[in-house]
Amino acid sequence: MGKTICILNGSPRPNGNTKALIQAFTAGAEAAGHSVTCFDLQKMDIHGCLGCCAGGKDPASPCVQKDGMERIYPVYAAADTVVLASPMYYWGISGQLKCAFDRLFAVAELTPDYANPKKECVLLMAAEGEGEDNFAPVRAFYEGLAGHLGWKNLGAVYAGGNMEAGAVRSRREQLKAAADLGASL
Ligand SMILES: Cc1cc2nc3c(=O)[nH]c(=O)nc-3n(C[C@H](O)[C@H](O)[C@H](O)COP(=O)(O)O)c2cc1C
Repeated sequence: MGKTICILNGSPRPNGNTKALIQAFTAGAEAAGHSVTCFDLQKMDIHGCLGCCAGGKDPASPCVQKDGMERIYPVYAAADTVVLASPMYYWGISGQLKCAFDRLFAVAELTPDYANPKKECVLLMAAEGEGEDNFAPVRAFYEGLAGHLGWKNLGAVYAGGNMEAGAVRSRREQLKAAADLGASL
């Protein structure tokens, strides 16, 4: 049976490298029978977490802030797989993605012990730098996050060597890695 996939796109560039990775991943996933919803976070009104710890009262609208996250919560709830898609910004994920991801804490607040819903996850990341040294900080963050949440890491594409928007479109091996990962779910 096909999986339900929720992509959180943290790139502000509509035709950027992250978007190209997402398109390749989506093509692979849809060809394999999965269903994909992608949120372009830059276009949405999503505020940072207030740290109020007052959410988790209404499963349909778990956060006290009522903004663009209202569209994401039901898709996230139904998703088997969550895809974190982001450019590398200062050896981490973009602010757009961090803001949205922090707000998923309101969903964990729905349970008495702050248990996160169990998901599978994927990381798609574009970056200017290349090599293991460049990606080590974000790899540690992503794998640590998945481990702490108890999510199953299905894989990551670290697409280095891409600075200009769309540069990754000439890196066929990177797009193929994203498409293959989508098809492999
Ligand atoms: C604010 C900012 C910070 C960045 N920091 C890094 C970095 O730490 N390491 C790196 O390799 N590339 C860095 N880059 C380059 C981007 O990751 C790269 O251009 C990427 O392909 C952008 O993806 P996009 O086209 O999806 O926006 C940075 C770019 C910007 C604008």
